Amino acid sequence: MSSVVVRNALQIDNLLRMGFLWTLIIMVSYMMVLYHLLRGSSIVFPRRSMASVGRWRACIVTGASSGIGKVVAKALALEGYHVILAGHMSGELHEAVAEIKSECIGVSLHSVELDLCSVASILAFVDAVESWILTTYPHHDLQLLVNNAGILAASQRFTPEGYDSMMATNYLGPFLLTKLLLPLLEKSSEPARIVNVVSFTHRCVRSLKINEELFLKGTVQKSLNRDWYRMARIYEASKMCLLLFSYELERRLGNLGSRVTVMVADPGIVKTSILQELPQLLVNITHLGLKILGLLQSPDAGARAIIDAALAPMVDFSFLMKSLADTSLEVME
Ligand SMILES: NC(=O)c1ccc[n+]([C@@H]2O[C@H](COP(=O)([O-])OP(=O)(O)OC[C@H]3O[C@@H](n4cnc5c(N)ncnc54)[C@H](OP(=O)(O)O)[C@@H]3O)[C@@H](O)[C@H]2O)c1
Ligand SMILES: *[C@@H]1O[C@H](CO)[C@@H](O)[C@H](O)[C@H]1NC(C)=O
Repeated sequence: MSSVVVRNALQIDNLLRMGFLWTLIIMVSYMMVLYHLLRGSSIVFPRRSMASVGRWRACIVTGASSGIGKVVAKALALEGYHVILAGHMSGELHEAVAEIKSECIGVSLHSVELDLCSVASILAFVDAVESWILTTYPHHDLQLLVNNAGILAASQRFTPEGYDSMMATNYLGPFLLTKLLLPLLEKSSEPARIVNVVSFTHRCVRSLKINEELFLKGTVQKSLNRDWYRMARIYEASKMCLLLFSYELERRLGNLGSRVTVMVADPGIVKTSILQELPQLLVNITHLGLKILGLLQSPDAGARAIIDAALAPMVDFSFLMKSLADTSLEVME
């Protein structure tokens, strides 16, 4: 690990936010869950009956080579989906496919390379999925897109288009991918779904100017020292953008009477490689502290929220929304 990464990661604002504020905020999240439980809400999430869902259903899970995404991909394969594992390192993707196939007999899956930091790669990915659907017989239906891939970057990097890499991976890339895959999802014989993986950390965002600067330079606020990459704030902001996008897309699709629904899922704190850009000693101390507080979950436990969201029954609001169908999807461009 280069010294630049270490210095950036150890900036005081980053340390305070990640070490203190994020821990506090997840505790608030758990208290909110507890409050709802005490008020009689159920923690058993209904699942739709897969018997009624077409046999040739396909889904896409991004960032499926490791961590939470790999668990989600395996669970969806066991549910009978043909899973397309998407990620930017083909070697690790192939390993994940082989691992799931060896653990679960009879599942159907394949991998396609996707780098969410590159517009060209996203376009190529969508092309590959489209032609795969057309050449499989009988045609598969794309019924589910799980936007799971995400990073916590410790140093500033830029995409070929000049955007901040963390913003691109966590928000801009998933935005473009979703937009390009919407026609396929709309065409599905069964109501389709988009699940976006967000994070409790968005609750730390107090105000956010959503403008070009945010995406290009990734500087959420003017930094006192320009050498420091405000990784914590940018991560929070990227997840806030993804959350706002999810709400707005759900609203617009509802207005259009679309059968595609959008859900968000927060896995909580999960022991994965998300902290891989931080110094190993800091990661070890963080994991130990979170374990003592009882906040550190396994990828299996963290994936549950995403699987619940993916398999929850469809709620058909179209009868309510038809009269409101005045907004056009053009606005999304
Ligand atoms: N872990 C947590 O505590 C936590 C908490 C809240 C939310 N989340 C969210 O959960 C999601 C999954 O994270 P995780 O914890 O499972 O982390 P992870 O183990 O680091 O997995 C991240 C995945 O994203 C992929 N990825 C990274 N950059 C990419 C790019 N440019 N294009 C395509 N794929 C890319 C990675 O692929 P490679 O392996 O090929 O790089 C990897 O498969 C993320 O969105 C994260 O923000 C995690
Ligand atoms: C961090 O923990 C792992 C085991 O979980 C260990 O192998 C590694 O040496 C530790 N690294 C540091 C720098 O403490």
